[in-house]
Amino acid sequence: MNPFKYGCTVNGDFFCPRPALERELASRIESGQNVVMQGERRTGKTSLVLETVRHMKNIALFHADFLCVRDQADVCRRLVAALLAHLRPTVSIDPSSGAPTVTVDSRVAAEPATLDTVLDVLLAQTKRRRTCVLLDEFQDILDIDDGERTLAVLRSRIQLDSNTPYIFLGSIRNKMAEIFFKYSSPFYHSAAAFKVGNIDADEFFAFIKGRFATGKRKLTRQMFDAIARTARDTPGFIQELCDALWQMSSNGTTLEESDIQEALAIIFAREHDHFTFAIKQLTAQQTRVLRTIAERGGKEIYSGAFLDAAQVFSAASVKKAVAKLERENIIYNYEGEYRFGSPFFCEWLLRR
Ligand SMILES: Nc1ncnc2c1ncn2[C@@H]1O[C@H](COP(=O)(O)OP(=O)(O)OP(=O)(O)O)[C@@H](O)[C@H]1O
Ligand SMILES: [Mg+2]
Repeated sequence: MNPFKYGCTVNGDFFCPRPALERELASRIESGQNVVMQGERRTGKTSLVLETVRHMKNIALFHADFLCVRDQADVCRRLVAALLAHLRPTVSIDPSSGAPTVTVDSRVAAEPATLDTVLDVLLAQTKRRRTCVLLDEFQDILDIDDGERTLAVLRSRIQLDSNTPYIFLGSIRNKMAEIFFKYSSPFYHSAAAFKVGNIDADEFFAFIKGRFATGKRKLTRQMFDAIARTARDTPGFIQELCDALWQMSSNGTTLEESDIQEALAIIFAREHDHFTFAIKQLTAQQTRVLRTIAERGGKEIYSGAFLDAAQVFSAASVKKAVAKLERENIIYNYEGEYRFGSPFFCEWLLRR
């Protein structure tokens, strides 16, 4: 069985323990402290929360995901979906007929949900049963038309629920910062900051090596480092590359650096439609800017050297191209540097 997973949350044997982070997070949850958790894409934020809560006693998890949420009605729908998953329906035996009956909190299903009614039900739940509330991809709420107002409603209710730990999870730093650290925001200073970075290299090496060993593949430290470099040290991308390496190797082999090219070819084949679609949406100039970032890195993109390399006449044109590339989620800004969302897309582009 393939021991690698990517693009979904991981638990149990698929989860590399992160004891220091798990301990810190558990103690925050234990004390009912709200947390704003930030980290790059695919670093394992969601899995960390799920696994930490799973190991804790007497606390249930409520998990709503706001990825690409469209409007306030959609925010409600996401909350209702999470509530239905959370309120495991109560099964009881009807005393007169002896027939089993199934009930959920009637308010969830009966009324057309408004944000207020849904939050009422959520708060009633957190009173009844100790719950950790995870609001995943929270930054996307800011993008909807009445984002600010929606946040204000959420904030006013959450404030009333002071014993429940709320975890606000987000990938895109700038937007999370806007929500939690901007003075005028309703969420200003309402949660403790918690950073999730990449998994410690020694620990992840031991874990990945063990996963390959289940199929009698040998992994040296040098090879692991080469994998990590190609995958930008990010847990999710490391696992994706290992999955391809697993696919192309057989029992009893020792993996070698030259295998990485073949593994990348597997990933490129899988992602071909996706990558070509992304490129088709771009103008020739935007593509040149993107390629130049792939070649030179995304740091000094307004310098003369960058403009020359990209064959673009003005910094303003680079700025416009970059804005489009960001909107399409192809690149993002990380501490002043533009980076590819996927390191494999960058590798693919460099080979074309
Ligand atoms: N502790 C871990 N051990 C092993 N692999 C992990 C771990 N955490 C994350 N990963 C890898 O990263 C992938 C993504 O994990 P997860 O969805 O938890 O990350 P995330 O930071 O929430 O991602 P996203 O930014 O997409 O929401 C997993 O499928 C797995 O390949
Ligand atoms: Mg996540």
